[in-house]
Parts: sequence; structure tokens; C-alpha cells
Amino acid sequence: MNKFRFIIYAPLFLILTEESYAANILGIFPAASYSHQQPMLAVTHALAKKGHNLTVITPNPSKVPVKNHRDVDISFLYEKYAEAQKDKDFTMQEKLSTFKFFSNLPAIFHFLSTNILNSSPVKQLIKEIKENNIKYDLIIYEVVPHSALLGGFSEITGNPPVVGVLTMNENSNTDIIFGNPLFPSYVPCVLQHSTDKMSFFERFNSLLYMIYYEYILKVYNADFQERLMKEHFGNFQRTADEKNYNISLLIVSSDLAFSYPKPNNPNVVQVGPLHIKKQLEPLPQDIKKWMDEAENGVIYFSLGSNMKGTSFPEEKRSAFIKAFSKFPKVRVLWKWEADTKLPGQPDNVFVKKWLPQQSILAHPNIVLFISQAGLQSLQEAVHYVVPVLAVPIYGDQEYNARKLLDTGAGLELDFYNITYESVYDKLEKFLTSTSYKENMKRVSAISKDRPMPPVDTAIWWVEYVLRHNGAPHLRPASLSLKWYQLYMVDLFLFIAAVILLLLLIIRFIFKKIFSIFSILKHKEHKQKTN
Ligand SMILES: *[C@@H]1O[C@H](CO)[C@@H](O)[C@H](O)[C@H]1NC(C)=O
Ligand SMILES: *[C@@H]1O[C@H](CO)[C@@H](O)[C@H](O)[C@H]1NC(C)=O
Repeated sequence: MNKFRFIIYAPLFLILTEESYAANILGIFPAASYSHQQPMLAVTHALAKKGHNLTVITPNPSKVPVKNHRDVDISFLYEKYAEAQKDKDFTMQEKLSTFKFFSNLPAIFHFLSTNILNSSPVKQLIKEIKENNIKYDLIIYEVVPHSALLGGFSEITGNPPVVGVLTMNENSNTDIIFGNPLFPSYVPCVLQHSTDKMSFFERFNSLLYMIYYEYILKVYNADFQERLMKEHFGNFQRTADEKNYNISLLIVSSDLAFSYPKPNNPNVVQVGPLHIKKQLEPLPQDIKKWMDEAENGVIYFSLGSNMKGTSFPEEKRSAFIKAFSKFPKVRVLWKWEADTKLPGQPDNVFVKKWLPQQSILAHPNIVLFISQAGLQSLQEAVHYVVPVLAVPIYGDQEYNARKLLDTGAGLELDFYNITYESVYDKLEKFLTSTSYKENMKRVSAISKDRPMPPVDTAIWWVEYVLRHNGAPHLRPASLSLKWYQLYMVDLFLFIAAVILLLLLIIRFIFKKIFSIFSILKHKEHKQKTN
């Protein structure tokens, strides 16, 4: 009886003790991107709901106040960033080579870190922390190299443990700062249009991208961030870069439905898509009616928040319009950021400036999603089992699209080859074959099969780091080795030197023996002739 009572009360006791511990947590989410923000905010909102005390620097503050979740509003970044993107080096509106994309990144990091640190909400927060000597128990930080923010806030808040969040797949830089083994031979660069099975040329590129990105970060970002930290926070013994290499744990908002098997140390955990909504917002009446009444299905067309439908090149736009008009029974929902109608808009196309993407993808009549293949959009398509026609444009979209192609759950359309014929051809394939949907079902099942929902897993790990004071036992010793020690270059060189030395000694001995022999022979010969 007593035992039984314990079993009943034990979980209750656990819940109570867990709730009684509320941590003071600072979130630093500098990316001016709606899709990057959603997975991270899903974690901090859930932490606040559990009773932790959150202060979060984000460009996406909640519209209604959330209990225990104080937003430090840096939403001004969006407009500033859009303005800056008119500059060629910031553009997100056209396809760039991977090298060009990498070399543009420092300017973007500088722009964001500088503007964030110069903004009054953040200045105010720094002042408040310093004046009241506020300590935090933990920092949650988006692991994009804004180390001035990470270093500065760590130092003034008492150097609490840091949990990193990543809203794309692990990249070579995160592999390096978390001490993961580097294998560009079968781990493609996350900006590369390759699977994990690469040709010689692809492997060569994968290696070059890795080296080039590290070079760019070391030469053009590290010192800049260091100076910025000193300017805004003061002089510290430890550098911003050291902080970067001292993050306790990395939570990755992805899984093997969107990436390939690769080595991750215990301080890197893929938890799955964090931003999938538990409760969908209802569709607006007009859209709901349009979708409900579509007897032959609905195609959803949206090129994400960076690539505006309105700035989409004219001839590519008309290629889509013409192709859609050839399937008059299939309805199309087009996210179009303008108040006017599309020029030449056919009857089966419905345009709207803003659309609740997850609610649309969850509608039973949806048959296809035409997307840039940003990771978050792709994750939604996989969650709601919708085949995808990917039109990758920049960043990790090519990698995502290649993975999609690999799974058979979608097709890819080359941005430079958007013509009426190519679009028509792809649409026909989707509308006449069930294989994409079948494959999407398989991928979706893989993504959903996990011991705990993604947000719960993330929270478990955050609290794990809190419970174990930064969990230093997770930290691999690879982080304290030099690269030539880690990859055993010094050992191989040593072994090679020993072998060489042995060979030289053997050669020396043989030479000696040989010369003694020849002297003897010579003497013998001399004696004979004498
Ligand atoms: C929560 O954090 C804020 C700082 O943002 C602080 O003013 C407040 O006292 C904290 N509350 C608790 C209960 O620790
Ligand atoms: C690394 O992080 C731990 C907390 O997890 C902290 O105690 C330590 O001071 C940090 N070291 C550096 C060099 O920042």
C-alpha cells in the first residue's frame, strides 16, 4: 500500500521540485529572419511557460505579452536590413556562388552585430545589467558568429553556461567550435548542392568551402567582433572568440529527414523541427472556401520571406502564370506581396499578401508546395506530408533541395531555367504521379519518430545543462588539441621521420658493408695480381 502511494505521488513530487527551480535565462537571437526566429522562440516560450524567467533579444517580439518572457525588441533590424540589402553585397534576391555567398557573410554579421549593439533597447539592457549587477543562470544563443554579443553578455552576466541553438543543419564552423570530427569527404558543405555520396570534384569543393569559410571568419570577422565587444562592454581578460569555443551544448532544429548521417559529439543534439505549431491558426474565410471547394487539389506557391514575389523577375513570373493556366481544374494559392492583382492572373489562381503557411499546408486538399526550400518551409512540408517543387536560391536551399531530390519526395527547378516548358513539365509530373506523396509519407514518418517532441527535447537539454552547471563533462577533448594534433599530422610526420631515419641507417650500414667488401675484394684482387 505504501509502495503504491509512493508510485502515485512520485511523479507529482518530481513535477513540484522541477517547477520550484526557475532559472534566469538570457536569449540572444540576432538574425533578422522570421524563419530563424520561430524555432528559437518556440524554445524560450516553452521555457517561460515552465516557469523560467526569460529575457530575449529578438526582432520578433510577441504581439501580446507572454508571462515570464520579456522581449528586448530589435524589430527595427528588418527595415534596416531590407534597406541594406539593396546593396549588391547584401542581396538575397539572386543566386550567388557559394564562395561569393561566404565572402558576403562578414559584412552581414558586422551589420547585424553593430546595429544591435548600437540600438537603444540593447544599450538599455546592458546598462540595466551592469548597474544592478544582474546575474543570469544561462544564456541561449543562436550560433551564428556574433561573438561580440555572446562574449560581452557572458562577461557582464557572470559567465553563465551557454546553450547554442541552430536553425539550419550543422555547418563546418559549428562542427569546429563543438569539436566534431571534420569529414568533408562525406559531409557536404551545408551550402553545397551535393548529397553525402560525392564525386572527387564534389569532395574537393566540400573541402575548399570548409577551409574558405574558416578563413573568412578568422580574417574578416573574429577581430571585428573582438573590437566591437570591447567598445560596448569593456575590456575583459577572455576574448569573444574563447566564448565561442566554450558553448556547452548545441541544439539543432533539424534531423535526418533533412540531413545525412554524420559524426556529432555528445554536445551536439539534433532535436527535430522546433517551430511546428501544436495549435494551428484558423484559415481566413476566403482562403478556406477556396481550398475546400478545390476538387482537384490546391498548389501553394510561396518563395519565402526574403525572395519577394514582387521582385521575382517578370519573365519567370509569366512562365508560372502560363503553366498554371494549363491546369485550370487545379487551384493555386500564390503569396504575392502587393496589393494589385497579378498581371494576366488566370481564374484558378488566388493571390494574397499574407498567408498562414502551416495552416495551408495542413489542409487536406493541398497537393503541392512550390518553395525556395528554406529549411523551415521544408520541415513544414514534411510534417504535413506535402510534396515539394524546390526553387532554391541562396544559402542552404540548394543543399536542402538536393536532399529532397534524394528522398524522392519532390523535384527541383533550376532558378535560371524557369520557363513555361520547364514549369509545365514539373507540374505534370506531380499531378500525374503518386510517388512523390508516397515518398513524402516515408520521410515524414522518419522525422516524426522520436522519443519526445522536439521542443520538449530541447527543454530537457537546456535544463540538463542547468542541472549540471554547464555540463563540462560533455565537452570533447578535441577542443583542446591543435588541428595537427587532432588529425594526427604530428604523429604521422613523426612515424614517417622514424621510418625515414631507419631507412637511412640501413642504407648507411649497407653502404659500409658494401665498401668493406669492395675494399677486401680490391685487396684480394691486388694480392692476386701481385
Ligand atoms: C526576471 O528577470 C528580470 C530581468 O529581466 C528581473 O528584473 C526579475 O527580477 C526576474 N524575476 C525573477 C523572479 O527572478
Ligand atoms: C566556460 O563556461 C563555463 C560555464 O559553462 C564557465 O564556468 C567558464 O568560465 C567558461 N570559460 C571561459 C573561458 O569562458
